[in-house]
Amino acid sequence: MKRLDFIANLLNNSEVVLDIGCDHGLVLKKAFDKKYIKKAFATDINEGPLLNAKKNLVGYNVEYYLSNGFLDLPELVFDTVVIAGMGAHLITEILTNANKDAKYILQANSKHEVLRSFLMNNGFIITDEHLVLDDFYYIIIEAKKGKMILSNEELYIGPVLKNKLESLEYYQHKIKQIESIYNNLDLHSKSKYQEIQMFYKNAVSVLKNNK
Ligand SMILES: C[S@@+](CC[C@H](N)C(=O)[O-])C[C@H]1O[C@@H](n2cnc3c(N)ncnc32)[C@H](O)[C@@H]1O
Repeated sequence: MKRLDFIANLLNNSEVVLDIGCDHGLVLKKAFDKKYIKKAFATDINEGPLLNAKKNLVGYNVEYYLSNGFLDLPELVFDTVVIAGMGAHLITEILTNANKDAKYILQANSKHEVLRSFLMNNGFIITDEHLVLDDFYYIIIEAKKGKMILSNEELYIGPVLKNKLESLEYYQHKIKQIESIYNNLDLHSKSKYQEIQMFYKNAVSVLKNNK
């Protein structure tokens, strides 16, 4: 629940939110209950999850849409988009049709480098990044339309996370994670993961030096 609470708290300066892949609708419910938002569009590609959202959001100012990402939506006015709890590749597919200027709150379950790379190459700028430990480490990226250039290292360590002390534990966790799979990798993957591990190790030493 920490992850959902965190995302809901990021809506405290939003008014109208489009939640793509809303499932249970709990992010919106939490944001409404805290009086952060006035209106929401809850969307999902599947009927079951949309029904769950409808049940959890009875009495709230919400419109519901069965839609594949942005593709089946009518013209809607919103200031914030939430796309959370999905794989990075799916989020990038959905973002391909994100034409509106808005605050984008994105939480991929893994492959954050894929998401960051997509953002860089498709006219987005990362404005903030957050780490939430909720059994697993979750990274929540805030982005808007704009331009940015990220180094290969930043695609992995995060252009904002790399300056946050709280990232230390996360980077150390990633270093250990790579160590634990390293011996089972083929030669090509070994050299790739060695490079990635070096990114995390460098990030750790920079953060420790700045402590
Ligand atoms: C794991 S749930 C995440 C729910 C919620 N956003 C969260 O963060 O807890 C992913 C949801 O995305 C929906 N989904 C998957 N692909 C989608 C797409 N292309 N467009 C809209 N919703 C999609 C699924 O039906 C599912 O309800």
